[in-house]
Amino acid sequence: MPSTSAPDTFDYVVFGATGDLTMRKLLPALYHRFRDKQISDQARIIGAARSPLSDDEFRDRADKALRRFVKPDALDDDLIRRFLGMIFYASVNGAEADSSWENLTRLFGEDGKDRIRVFYLATSPDLYGPICENLSGQGLVSDKARVVLEKPIGHDLESARRINDEVGRFFEEKKIFRIDHYLGKETVQNLIALRFANPVFERLWNADAIESVQITAAETVGVEGRGDYYDHSGALRDMIQNHLLQVMCLVAMEPPGSLDADNLRNEKLKVLRALKPITAAEVPHVAVRGQYGRGLVGGEIVPAYLEELGQGRQSDTETFVAIKAEVHSLRWGKVPFYLRSGKRLPSKVSEIVVQFRETPWSIFPSKLEPNRLIIRLQPEEGIQLSIMNKDPGPDGMVLRPANIDVSFEKAFSTRYPDAYERLLMDTVRGDPVLFMRRDEVEAAWTWVEPILNAWKEKPGTLNHYGAGTWGPDAARDLIHSTGHVWHEEMC
Ligand code: BG6
Repeated sequence: MPSTSAPDTFDYVVFGATGDLTMRKLLPALYHRFRDKQISDQARIIGAARSPLSDDEFRDRADKALRRFVKPDALDDDLIRRFLGMIFYASVNGAEADSSWENLTRLFGEDGKDRIRVFYLATSPDLYGPICENLSGQGLVSDKARVVLEKPIGHDLESARRINDEVGRFFEEKKIFRIDHYLGKETVQNLIALRFANPVFERLWNADAIESVQITAAETVGVEGRGDYYDHSGALRDMIQNHLLQVMCLVAMEPPGSLDADNLRNEKLKVLRALKPITAAEVPHVAVRGQYGRGLVGGEIVPAYLEELGQGRQSDTETFVAIKAEVHSLRWGKVPFYLRSGKRLPSKVSEIVVQFRETPWSIFPSKLEPNRLIIRLQPEEGIQLSIMNKDPGPDGMVLRPANIDVSFEKAFSTRYPDAYERLLMDTVRGDPVLFMRRDEVEAAWTWVEPILNAWKEKPGTLNHYGAGTWGPDAARDLIHSTGHVWHEEMC
């Protein structure tokens, strides 16, 4: 994996600077890196958006965001003052080649040409092409310039290809960083260590020993203020097409020859291309979609999705998805990979459950539970391996499962950096290892698209679930039909 050395100084331009992602994630991440002395006072962070704001007005927003989203023990008035001093603002209409661009270009004199320039596009994906064209037209794409694209890249295969083509006209592939913030999570990176540094697992990591794999990303939140984006996206595009498929790639891939970015991404790509295509006729049997109604989450009554959207809007956008996938390879055969993600579920948890096969024969009178490896990506990060043990006592050979339990918090006493801290600095260093290559994004869309199309063409596929439950009954039926159960149903 790449180094964490302090990069050369840089200009970091964020388009969509007044939006939620910038305030909630990007500025706090850059502040933390500044606090850890990975960013020098000579660096500049330039917010770009349409709103007419002065530098000071934008700094004021940044100040409020830091005080809201950075943990109090990391806040330091003097540091914040220095950090805000590095921030500038340019009111730019990214989509148009108009005079507003002067507000940005005047910040880049000839002197700044040798500095690293990162253009982070936290805007609607429709604007990626036009912004890149304008950056180029304004002479801002210097040798050391790179562009960062937030997910989703498009809303289907065709739009993803179009965006990739458009951006590719102005930036070489190696200068395009497609973010999937799950890849920046420490526990997701740790999957590579778990699998390839521990022969005890790798030797069993195949269809001979593994019965099934579940990957869940459950959230308690609803769509909050993001209804306009989310209602056009839905859970399949928002979580499965990118985050869950990327995690699945790391679980299912073959060992890469090295940790070099292309080696790793080649192996992930092979997994995506080995995914068994799901035909329209199969969709009802292997994919479930749902939308939450009112319910109780964390002891509070929360509104239904449609109520959150407001203004009496109707929608059949899914807020929950469960899919049975298969990776058709010698390693995996027909092992089911259950992928599941939803909003307004009972708890916030992202985890992988690897269930091993049962013993072919048992000498014990009581039933044996299969061994399970539970990899907790967040929160309470850690790894549990459930094994069968003799229940201590005079009653003979009574067996019971118990866990070998590694809590990362206890094992490593360092702070877990937010995924964006690592990823933003990698964009400055120019290290693409934790970013999605064009072919990966398009392969993921290729697999997902028939499911989206089948749902679009066959209305009435939406199931309802109460907020605070683990999704619609159909999701349980899906996994039960193959003799498996979701993690929360396991004893
Ligand atoms: C984002 C999705 O990519 O990931 C959000 O757009 C979702 O809808 C978020 O809430 C979940 O991220 P995390 O890191 O909280 O699991």
